[in-house]
Amino acid sequence: MGYASKSIASKWRKTGWMLGDSNLKPYVPETRLFGRENLETMLKRHSVLYFKPSKGTGGKGIARIERLSSGGYRISGSGGRRSGLSAGELHARMKSLARGQRYLLQRGIDLALTKGRPFDLRVMAQKDGSGWTATAVFAKIGKRGKVVTNYHSGGRLSGFKETMKGAGYSDSAIREAHRKLELLGESAGHCFDRHLDGFREIGLDVAVDREGRLWILEANTRPQYYPLKSVDKSGYRRITEFAKKYGRVKNGN
Ligand SMILES: Nc1ncnc2c1ncn2[C@@H]1O[C@H](COP(=O)(O)OP(=O)(O)O)[C@@H](O)[C@H]1O
Ligand SMILES: [Mg+2]
Repeated sequence: MGYASKSIASKWRKTGWMLGDSNLKPYVPETRLFGRENLETMLKRHSVLYFKPSKGTGGKGIARIERLSSGGYRISGSGGRRSGLSAGELHARMKSLARGQRYLLQRGIDLALTKGRPFDLRVMAQKDGSGWTATAVFAKIGKRGKVVTNYHSGGRLSGFKETMKGAGYSDSAIREAHRKLELLGESAGHCFDRHLDGFREIGLDVAVDREGRLWILEANTRPQYYPLKSVDKSGYRRITEFAKKYGRVKNGN
């Protein structure tokens, strides 16, 4: 089942690479390892945090933490929702969710809405003999009531252009964002190449905030794209053409 593209599971490691890259750093929200001190610091600096397993996928194990105007905290995610927690109670709850695994704390981005629903983007970058190319950009629209937009957590894929239109962007703003996203995907490829050999594909999760700024939430080295087939046929075809070159898709498939 394996194919020739390097895969790194640790979000902590990959985020560190991106923070060390001057092209990518401005796009990475502040991220620290979970622990009591870092939690305290991050809660002071940001009113919303994301709490995610360094080795998670598919939106599993992710929680959103909010500082409430009442002074308490709320944590919501697949483990349910608890409100009105003190800082100590919040930390204890998070510790029990983490079960000794490494977790990240990341500044929460206020996701832009498309027709009233939060979404984020996926930029697919792939490498062939001539270097890195951004082969597709698409959107993931979150299921109501979820703190993640992942397809495997009930999100649905949607075309980039129509999603951005649904968020109120003009054609020219959409074109400009598309160009920026392609550059980010290709920059991530170059960044990863400087650390290890063998990467052929990277899927960047990029949020658009309410002010239109772009934020890289994570870089996937085993990005899934099959469901794109019914949403963006030409993007799907471009990804597949590249994927054949490194054996992810059989030739003639
Ligand atoms: N810092 C953040 N701010 C806002 N939403 C986030 C943040 N981090 C993650 N999310 C939401 O959770 C989803 C999953 O997070 P991600 O880091 O991509 O982990 P996974 O590997 O599980 O996909 C994202 O696509 C996004 O919808
Ligand atoms: Mg993701």
